[in-house]
Amino acid sequence: MRIVLGVGGGIAAYKAASLLRLFTEAGHDVTVIPTDASTRFVGVATWEALSGHPVSNSVFDDVHTVNHVRLGHEAELIVVAPATADLLARAATGQANDLLTNTLLMAGGPVLMAPAMHTEMWRHQATQANVETLRSRGITVLEPDSGRLTGADSGPGRLPEPAAIFAAAMALAESSGIPGGPERAAASGPAGPTASGPAPLAGIRVTISAGGTREPLDPVRFLGNRSSGKQGVALAAAARDAGANVRLLAAHMDVPAPEGVDVVRVETALELRQAALRASAESDVIIMAAAVADFRPAETSATKIKKRDDTADPVISLVRNPDILKELVEVRDTASRNQLIVGFAAETGDADGGVLEYAEAKLRRKGCDLLVVNQVGRDEVFGQDTNSVVILARSGSEPQEASGSKSDVAAAVIDRVSAELSRVQPPG
Ligand code: CTP
Repeated sequence: MRIVLGVGGGIAAYKAASLLRLFTEAGHDVTVIPTDASTRFVGVATWEALSGHPVSNSVFDDVHTVNHVRLGHEAELIVVAPATADLLARAATGQANDLLTNTLLMAGGPVLMAPAMHTEMWRHQATQANVETLRSRGITVLEPDSGRLTGADSGPGRLPEPAAIFAAAMALAESSGIPGGPERAAASGPAGPTASGPAPLAGIRVTISAGGTREPLDPVRFLGNRSSGKQGVALAAAARDAGANVRLLAAHMDVPAPEGVDVVRVETALELRQAALRASAESDVIIMAAAVADFRPAETSATKIKKRDDTADPVISLVRNPDILKELVEVRDTASRNQLIVGFAAETGDADGGVLEYAEAKLRRKGCDLLVVNQVGRDEVFGQDTNSVVILARSGSEPQEASGSKSDVAAAVIDRVSAELSRVQPPG
């Protein structure tokens, strides 16, 4: 595959050398286009030696070959790593003031950008607006990793690991149907990981809800449930380990959120609904593992409800909470979005039907792609460290059993998610 590797002017430019190696060792033909600023970090000679091609960032070199048009036209895939705040801004506003931005404007194939910058710059409204603009044009912008940055600061802004960018690039090429893409790379025996290798969810945005919602009666009391959040937290860790960018919508949990995931705290079902709908537009996968209260008190007292001898004991009336999972499915279908939605169900069998019959009916009712079914009542699920589930698929494929620690079950669910993503057309 013919790849253009654009390198922005940040300290992480040196990591692009490892990425280039992964591409060339996998048999791809790579032309590097560094920005002028990036050559202060890594010199042109390094790129020429590693790629085996001449390197320039000037539109006035090789004018007879119309370089500024040809490179973008010929590239089957363009990868920009690191994409600095400045480069994202220039790409979003369609500037053409160097060879790399000219090439991006001429791109005929898919484009993947891997940002790296300080957390404040990444979170700045201007950068976020640029990222949104680029994504709305079909460009894949990866989420940066979290961790130690150049100075003493840490937070989201690190360039994702070269192996993760490589895997995301191969997945993008595959989903774009580029002939001689990852298949050719695999045939020629890559030294690095592939899309189905160690980082199967690289570049995939996964939102997971976990824990139990609390529905307030007054400032000190609430209606809650026994969910510990352990299964949702194990899922977040498993998705993170598979290379995904994970957002955890955390209702009440007895366990801490895992490192390396974005955490959004919520209390009530209505807050979870708002957070989930907001996350939906930016998620390739949504897993609803939270125990959501089906009902909430019709009224929440602003002051503590007092017991009084002169009045009757209070009666709590409840109103129904929205079904978030069902709503997420409706939103996805209305927007014709390519998104995988996973639900959880706690079921018991009775005289009228078995657990799986009820679960299959729930899968159809909710419209999600996968339903992870716990049989409750046999052994207690809540708060335990082990779990035993059956994964049902809307596609009708065989139910799959998984049991063991909650981490084992999480790994099985995440494996199944990656298998479903590669079976259906991957998001792009
Ligand atoms: N769920 C949701 N919103 C709700 C209730 C549940 O999104 N208001 C989600 C849960 O996170 C879970 C799935 O729906 O992924 C199944 O929840 P469950 O309580 O088992 O299903 P219910 O629809 O409440 O069905 P039942 O009548 O069996 O309680």
